[in-house]
Order: sequence, then structure tokens, then C-alpha cells
Amino acid sequence: MKEIIAVKEITPFKTRSEEFNPYAWCKEMLETNPVSYHEGTNTWNVFKYEDVKRVISDYENFSSERTRTTIAVGADTKDGFAPDKTNLIDADPPKHRKRRSLLSAAFTPRSLKNWEPRIQEIVDELIGQLGTDTEVEIVQSLTSQLPIIIMSDLMGVPSKDRLLFKKWVDTLFLPFKKEEQEDINNKKQAAAKEYYEYLYPIVVQKRQNPADDIVSDLLKAEVDGETFTDDEAIRTTMLILGAGIETTSHLLANTFYSLLYDNPNVYEELHHHPELVPQAVEEMLRYRFQLSKIDRTVKEDNDLLGVELKKGDVVVAWLSAANLDKDMFENPFAVNIHRPNNKKHVTFGNGPHFCLGAPLARLEARIALTSFVKKYSRIEPVADFNLEDHLTDSATGQTLTTLPFKVFV
Ligand code: HEM
Repeated sequence: MKEIIAVKEITPFKTRSEEFNPYAWCKEMLETNPVSYHEGTNTWNVFKYEDVKRVISDYENFSSERTRTTIAVGADTKDGFAPDKTNLIDADPPKHRKRRSLLSAAFTPRSLKNWEPRIQEIVDELIGQLGTDTEVEIVQSLTSQLPIIIMSDLMGVPSKDRLLFKKWVDTLFLPFKKEEQEDINNKKQAAAKEYYEYLYPIVVQKRQNPADDIVSDLLKAEVDGETFTDDEAIRTTMLILGAGIETTSHLLANTFYSLLYDNPNVYEELHHHPELVPQAVEEMLRYRFQLSKIDRTVKEDNDLLGVELKKGDVVVAWLSAANLDKDMFENPFAVNIHRPNNKKHVTFGNGPHFCLGAPLARLEARIALTSFVKKYSRIEPVADFNLEDHLTDSATGQTLTTLPFKVFV
């Protein structure tokens, strides 16, 4: 098991809401400490856009093969381990290239096109259940449901088993905390076992009767004569779920938060011009992934960041801060959906590891937000909303547990 770096020690936040809105800290680090060593965690930290991009994409100097990491998700169990063949997150090119091609078979543009109507149907079902001229609670009713329902559907899981599936996935990807590592691991192991036993017969059946879904695509995938066994296909689905569920839920929930509290003018504009939704989604990806970071390990001694880095040093690249760098984004602390370059954010990474699920995440967010803004002309905060009471620790930093607000048709 890899050593987990207690990344919270690097940041100074005293409350959850401070962590949820870390903009002052990002600004300070960008201006006064853009490349800095943190003694407590024995890490280098980089914040500027160009440095972050370099660290995450220059695999010849900054490796994804690591023994210490800030990544605190994953089903770290026998059944949950990604098979070597697809463990692309921890591999550098050239090994990485083949593994990525194998997995890409399940994320082709053709698949996305075919999936669009299915995603729309699920969105219509969930948004159809929301009331009119009333208060809604968007996290439980939409944003935490949608990505998992979509993935279970795209994986070919029968809809009657959705809730069961969600329960396992929620447990599998509980964030690790240093103090409770063993307890959390036991829970994950139990969930991984149940998940595995549930999916196994589905995989066997799909090998005989392939359908239009991710599991069937994985079973068909072949690169240089390599294919997935049933076991590998199941464990690969766990990798996909680990990478794609919480991140997308976070994007959706934070988008609603932002529309209510960061810049309340945006909602009306989107209602009248739903065609602006894709731009709004990019701005949310830039601004509302508050504390996302990726780590790499220094391959050989170098001074590429202007400091002396030693082989084996861990460098934490703060994507969120890079997205707020004024040398890249004008007036970066304002939410502006008309920003000409908002797609340049690094929230999906950069270089060979660029997020494989980015088109799917964008599609889900676009469909969900478009349907929502078309249905409601106005949204309003509830009177007594206290952010601190609505947050919890998660792999992405602080995540909203509930977000009530008023909706008007
Ligand atoms: C808003 C949602 C998402 C965000 C912000 C996000 C972010 C990221 C980032 C930053 C990386 C790069 C990691 C690195 O460089 O080490 C990554 C990689 C990856 N993501 Fe996503 N992701 C999202 C959604 C998804 C979805 C929906 C899926 C799949 C269904 C997915 C699958 C993957 C995979 C498989 C990789 C590994 C790619 C590689 O190492 O070559 N992600 N993601």
C-alpha cells in the first residue's frame, strides 16, 4: 500500500467553509510562494499555471510511478486493485500508452453519441421528479444520484439494482483518513467483495451476448493481442467508477452552489440562453474544483522549477491554484462564463494522463444543466443557509452533503 501524504497539513484552513472557499490562500501562494517546500509532509508544492502544467505533463522528469501519494480514494483491496493492464494512473509512457489504449476502447466518441439519449432520459426522470415553485434539495435528488445512475446504466446494470450498486460504490470510494485507515479498509473490502460477486455473472453473460455498454466494450477491447479477462474487466470498472463518480457529482453540486452564491446573474442568462451552458460548465470546472491537486515524483535531480529537486521528491501540483493564476486568466477570482479561454483550465489534467472521462463528464453536466435551466426561470437561496453545516470531507476536498434552494418555473 502506498504511503498517503496528509495533504491537509499543507493548507491552513480551520473550518470546512474556509476550505470550500480557499481563494485567499490560493492567491497568497500564487503571489508569495509559487514554488515552496512543506516540511511537515516533505513535499514540494507548485501553484503557477505553467509550473503545474509542466509537472503533470512532463513525464520524463516527473513520474506517475510513486510510493507516496496524495490520492486518497480507491478500493484498496484485493478485489478492488486495478489490474496491471489498466493501472494507467500510476504508469509513465511507454507502458502507460498501451494500458490507456485498452481502456479507451470503452470511451470512444461513437459510444458517447450513442449514450447521449440514455443520459438525457435519466436526467429527464430525475429533474421530472423535482417540484415547481417550491424548495428542492439538489444533492440528494440530483447531483449525487446522476453520475452513479448513468454509470450503472452505461455498464449494463439492470435499473432495479441501481440503489444496491450506489451503496457499494459509495463505500468503495470513501476517502481514506490516516487515523481510520484500517476501519475504512475493512468496509471497502466487504463492499468490493459484494460488488465483485454481483458483477461477475453480468460480465460472463455479456461475453456471450455483448450489448452497447461499457462492460461489453471492455470485453471486446484488444491492443497488440492483449485483451481483458472477466476478472480484469470487473476490476477495471472499479477504476472507472473511482475516477468518474465523485468528481462528476462534485462538479454538478458545486455548479448549483456557484449559480446561487458566486455570481447570481449567471442563472438568468443561462435560462434565456441555454446554448451558453457548455461555457458555464467550463467556468465551473475552472473555478469550483477548489482544492484539486495531482502529485508526481521527481525522476532525477533537476532544477526545472527553479529550486533544487532531488530524485524521489514528491511534487504536489495544485490544479485549482493554476486555474486562478492571473498570468493565464484575467480577473481570475470572478466567475465569468464569457471568459474566452476558460477551457484552458487544468481540472482534467494535462499531457498523457489527460482525463479519459472528460467528454463524458462534460456531456453529463451539459445535459443536466441545460434541462434544469430550461425548466426553471429562477433559483433563490433559502434564508437560513449556513454553508458550514452542509459540507463533508471528500477526495475532492470539501463536498456539499445537501444544498437546499428555491425553484420557480
Ligand atoms: C468533473 C469530473 C472529472 C474530473 C475533474 C477528472 C479529473 C481527472 C484528472 C485531473 C486526471 C489526471 C490524473 C493525472 O494526471 O494523474 C484524470 C484522469 C482520469 N480520469 Fe478523470 N475526471 C473526471 C471525470 C472522469 C470520468 C467521468 C471518468 C470515467 C468515466 C474519468 C476517468 C479517468 C481516467 C480513467 C483517468 C486516468 C487517465 C490516465 O492516467 O491516462 N474521469 N481525471
